[in-house]
Amino acid sequence: MSKMYTKHAVKYAEVVKGNIYNALLERPSTMSLLDNLQGKDVVDMGCGPGEYAQWFLEQSVNRLTCIDISQEMVALVKSKFGSNVHAYCQNISQGLPLEKDNSADVIVCPLVLHYVEDLTPVFESVYRILKPSGYMVFSTHHPFADFECSESGNYFSRELVEEEWNTVGTPVKVQYYRRSLTEISEAITHSGLLISKMSEGVIDEKAKDLSESTYRHLKNNPNFIFFRCEKVRTSQSNEVLFHARQLAYIQK
Ligand SMILES: C[S@@+](CC[C@H](N)C(=O)[O-])C[C@H]1O[C@@H](n2cnc3c(N)ncnc32)[C@H](O)[C@@H]1O
Repeated sequence: MSKMYTKHAVKYAEVVKGNIYNALLERPSTMSLLDNLQGKDVVDMGCGPGEYAQWFLEQSVNRLTCIDISQEMVALVKSKFGSNVHAYCQNISQGLPLEKDNSADVIVCPLVLHYVEDLTPVFESVYRILKPSGYMVFSTHHPFADFECSESGNYFSRELVEEEWNTVGTPVKVQYYRRSLTEISEAITHSGLLISKMSEGVIDEKAKDLSESTYRHLKNNPNFIFFRCEKVRTSQSNEVLFHARQLAYIQK
């Protein structure tokens, strides 16, 4: 795991409060895919320092579970929110074995899945944990943006990319997986989840005041990709299919 989320966790927590990529692009774009969260049981997979947790508590969620592989991140969340959240360490590559079946209304997973090599156990766990009619919203690196870093030149092959990021004011080595849109979409649908919305995010105009050049770049280029996926019971999806067929028949 990158030292960005362990040794530099406190600095990372400060930076993402108001930076362009997280505060003015990623968080508003993810939040726009969520319905009203009041009274909902929410699981935050890869919660980081708790910027989302803060917002979930402000939305009056019922139960908030925050999970991260980094002990430092989990400690930050516990120190900020105490007993208002249930926070613990777990590598989501192994799924979420401690979460009960059909127990979450909403699962969010912002900017985490590019650190996971095999997405299958993650989405299988999400499907198992979601209540019937629950949903998941996640964001990850945009496959087209990451393709610039490909060494193989083969868009369709998964690659481990290593870079140095200056997010915390000093270069920190980060490794992540670059993968195709097909791989992401197949991992989702293989689990039984249905993709109901996909977006490429919208940069907030306020970014102009922080950096005109970064704002321009993000206005013109995709950087992250955002999905909403639904757990629809088989009978419900059959019903949707039935109505779609009826509509097609009427339109003939
Ligand atoms: C870019 S940060 C995003 C944090 C938070 N989701 C947010 O958007 O503010 C990525 C987080 O994912 C966590 N992470 C990375 N790999 C993980 C894994 N395999 N299991 C659980 N958490 C992981 C890191 O420790 C870090 O806190």
